Amino acid sequence: MTQPHTSIQKENPPPVTIVIFGASGDLTQRKLIPALYSLSCDELLSASTQVIGVARTEFDDQAFREHLFQGVSKNARLKPADDCENWDSFASRISYLVGDYDDPDTYQQLAERIAQNDENFGTGGNRLFHMAIPPAVFTEVVEQMGRSGLNQSEQGWSHIVVEKPFGTNLESARELNKTIHTAFSESQVYRIDHYLGKETVQNLMTLRFANAIFEPIWNHNYIDNIQITVAESVGVGQRAGFYDQTGVLRDMFQNHVMQLLALTTIEPPVAFEAETFRDKKVDVLRAVRPIDRNLRGQYGSGDGVKAYRQEKDVDDDSKTATFAALRLFIDNWRWKNVPFYLRSGKRLATKSTSIVIEFKRVPHLMFPLGDREELPPNILYLCIQPNEGIKLSLQTKQPGAGMETHSADIDYAFAQDFEERDLPEAYERLLLDAISGDATLFTRADEIELAWRIIDPVLERWQSPDGPPCHRYSPGSWGPEQAEGFIEQDGRHWHYGCGE
Ligand code: BG6
Repeated sequence: MTQPHTSIQKENPPPVTIVIFGASGDLTQRKLIPALYSLSCDELLSASTQVIGVARTEFDDQAFREHLFQGVSKNARLKPADDCENWDSFASRISYLVGDYDDPDTYQQLAERIAQNDENFGTGGNRLFHMAIPPAVFTEVVEQMGRSGLNQSEQGWSHIVVEKPFGTNLESARELNKTIHTAFSESQVYRIDHYLGKETVQNLMTLRFANAIFEPIWNHNYIDNIQITVAESVGVGQRAGFYDQTGVLRDMFQNHVMQLLALTTIEPPVAFEAETFRDKKVDVLRAVRPIDRNLRGQYGSGDGVKAYRQEKDVDDDSKTATFAALRLFIDNWRWKNVPFYLRSGKRLATKSTSIVIEFKRVPHLMFPLGDREELPPNILYLCIQPNEGIKLSLQTKQPGAGMETHSADIDYAFAQDFEERDLPEAYERLLLDAISGDATLFTRADEIELAWRIIDPVLERWQSPDGPPCHRYSPGSWGPEQAEGFIEQDGRHWHYGCGE
């Protein structure tokens, strides 16, 4: 057996038939199959694993495999030609089923194919359903699965993986949870937030809970403020029609930013295990105070880039926000009065996700300030992507006769120890966990509803006729110029320390 490239080891992953609804779409070609292929190259999937793609688009098995091969060649961590000669045997385990989602016959045929897999390949009655379908057909598919008995398995298990967007507000998320629960119990459900599958997001847990030095100072006594930035340099691309109905709060804050916030602020769990861990996230999300300050923006044109409103399928007078900044507080013992500044946007200066912890200054300074107005605080930069690493800025002595201080950085880059190909893609980790029945890195029903409860009032305010202005910003900037005043009114400023 070859040595796996990655360290994501699961003991004997069970054999399974993976069914992808919406298999002709972009997600399957770009993320799901490349992830499964890399896992199979690393021998992290059972050799009996079978994949059935279901969708309305006409394909035969061969054409479907060729279509997937293109995605794998381009997007997989391990490439068919260079890293692993596994494609033919992997592809032989993939088949395709053309069918309408509202036709009971589709589900009947699917059930027969799964039963054949159990018999011919020993997949043991285990099924993983991946819902890569648009929200408009989601309810129909879940109901049909319930009616046809696909939601249960007598010999094995039946898990369902649900993609975002998970509703468009609290009410619709509750409805969705209800629909899912008509056919599946919560323990069968795996709601994906791909940020939780990222190595460096998980590393936040390691940093906080595998090092003794942080926990004693990880609270309002020592921390002045925390900034979470998820900046993207890309625009809305081909998804403008979808994005215009969605906007940055639903697209990035309700899910990814809230998850980063939760992981930064949770109390130490006693075990890295699904219910314990998610209970802690729920606790902290429940303590978030209604948001008292927010700012929205939309990119205009500039530098050969067209304005958001000029994108295909976007109205000329669209007020959809492509940038937002929020300030919030967490009303619990640990975080009393610590402001959290959150921001995310498209067409910003660079792609960068970071969590920046700014510590309080020393209570009394015995050294001369020199030409500085005040001593800079200690700052811990957790750089999530793309320059994955950790940086701590602190004060040292300025060489010479005096006692002036000098700012210095301790910098650790993941690239020092790991190669790009060692780091599994988010979907690899998440699919393997869903197959292995480990829901720790998936969001639970109550957690998702709580995240909506935080975001909903801001969304409603923005949708009202007297909502706040939607400021224009230049592509390649850091958002509307008002974003500076947003934080400066608290006597603070945004930090850029992850190589931006
Ligand atoms: C998705 C959003 O969930 O996350 C996209 O829908 C966004 O709009 C993407 O571009 C960002 O993910 P990543 O992994 O590139 O940071």
